[in-house]
Amino acid sequence: MTRVETVERALDLRRTVDAWRSNHSIGFVPTMGALHEGHERLIQQARNECSRVVVSIFVNPVQFDRADDLERYPRTLDADIDRCGRLGVDLVFAPSVHEMYPTPPACTVDPGPLAVPLCGAHRPGHFRGVATVVLKLLHMVGADRAYFGEKDAQQLAIVRQMVADFDVPVTVVGVATVREPDGLAMSSRNRRLDAYERSLAPRLYQALQAANALIVSGATDVDAVKHAATEVIGTDGRLRLDYLEVVDPQRLEQVETIAAPVLIAGALWVGGTRLIDNCLSVPPASQPALSS
Ligand code: PAJ
Repeated sequence: MTRVETVERALDLRRTVDAWRSNHSIGFVPTMGALHEGHERLIQQARNECSRVVVSIFVNPVQFDRADDLERYPRTLDADIDRCGRLGVDLVFAPSVHEMYPTPPACTVDPGPLAVPLCGAHRPGHFRGVATVVLKLLHMVGADRAYFGEKDAQQLAIVRQMVADFDVPVTVVGVATVREPDGLAMSSRNRRLDAYERSLAPRLYQALQAANALIVSGATDVDAVKHAATEVIGTDGRLRLDYLEVVDPQRLEQVETIAAPVLIAGALWVGGTRLIDNCLSVPPASQPALSS
């Protein structure tokens, strides 16, 4: 197998993509590497919809709110490049920190109100760092379509808002969450879990499912739904629930009562690893009535 072309410099990226632009559609999948089947799904969708696919692999320091998380973030560049080759990626952009930030950025993107709740409340500066690097990458690549996972629903909402507000000429495509057979959302951080932690990790998904089941069967009281979900998480010395919220899927603000589709979103510490997941839930009241 020939190794997929991999460039470290933005200039080389630009040169290659510019040569394609007149007769190709360009799909872009930004990642932080440690690629898994979740990333693969994004790449496959890009492959199906675009004639050239660019994947970036960059562990973006400015979006990490904890130094230990950045330090422990898995880095598997060679395996990632091989995987991209197998998936038919045309170009991997794997810049150094110096290439992306020759000097610490003085101008950053304020992601606005969408970054305030949920993970924004627990990870100061995280979404500013995400929005800043995504805007830079979108400019550098100049793709027609960019692919993001629904697993990171708040990130996806912020990217859509930023692209609209800053008139970035790209179509943002959301891709459904890919899960392990037991429901655990695939994540680069899962490989940090030891065997016992891995056995606890699906509880977040199970809690979201329990909340969804209640909503689908007509529950409208947010506290009752959150309480039932929290019970499913249960108590274990290795588990600590960061948050579990029921929010409006567009504005991400907490709802008072469940009368329209909601996003149930949670973050759970499993040992030293923080996992996130979410589920869109549609109450019966907002489903179209069956015609008689
Ligand atoms: P990373 O965590 O590597 O994820 C890259 C993309 O893969 C994101 O859009 C994420 O939502 C998607 N993804 C991750 N796990 C997934 C799963 N189980 N199913 C579907 N999609 C999944 O998210 C980032 O990197 C960074 O914040 C980034 C956008 C690259 C900016 O640095």
